Amino acid sequence: MLKGKKVSESAVHDQTSVVYPNDLNPYGTLFGGRVLELCDRLAGVVARRHCGRVCVTLGVDSVRFLAPAKHGDTLVFKASINRVWRTSMEIGLKVFAEDFRTLDRIHIVSAYFTFVALDDHLRPVEICPVIPETGEEKRRFDQAEERRKMRLNLPNRS
Ligand SMILES: CC(C)(COP(=O)(O)OP(=O)(O)OC[C@H]1O[C@@H](n2cnc3c(N)ncnc32)[C@H](O)[C@@H]1OP(=O)(O)O)[C@@H](O)C(=O)NCCC(=O)NCCS
Repeated sequence: MLKGKKVSESAVHDQTSVVYPNDLNPYGTLFGGRVLELCDRLAGVVARRHCGRVCVTLGVDSVRFLAPAKHGDTLVFKASINRVWRTSMEIGLKVFAEDFRTLDRIHIVSAYFTFVALDDHLRPVEICPVIPETGEEKRRFDQAEERRKMRLNLPNRS
């Protein structure tokens, strides 16, 4: 059995990025595809930190664009590993938009990423367990199992 790692060992709490003009949609607010790309990259960092392996995105679900962000806002990303199964893991992401004048923050995006760890031959490989410590980490750990059941019930699963 591989040795477990704490959630806090791979979590990211305050990754920032600034909304530039080329990040905007035709209506002048942050383009959702852009923020999802940033989330995918960051979730990949958390996944690799946890297992020390090549990790690929298997899927993204429960994406919610809760509020728009505007040009000049500071985006603040938070990401942590919620649960590990055998070769796959769920990473939860939250993004906030911070007004640089007032430092007011609004929650703009939530999403769950599923990553699979790969060995040197690019085959799925076992991941070390995750150790949830805080009440919130334990709640996310429990709820991740429910989400996995829904994912595996998707009609395309062979
Ligand atoms: C990820 C990949 C290697 C998985 O290959 P595979 O042959 O499906 O592997 P497996 O059947 O062994 O499944 C691997 C894990 O994914 C999980 N999985 C498969 N389908 C799933 C689904 N719909 N939801 C959640 N987990 C799923 C399996 O349960 C298994 O996890 P577990 O070992 O923790 O139980 C393969 O699908 C792949 O290469 N995909 C492309 C990845 C990529 O290029 N990503 C970047 C795109 S932006």
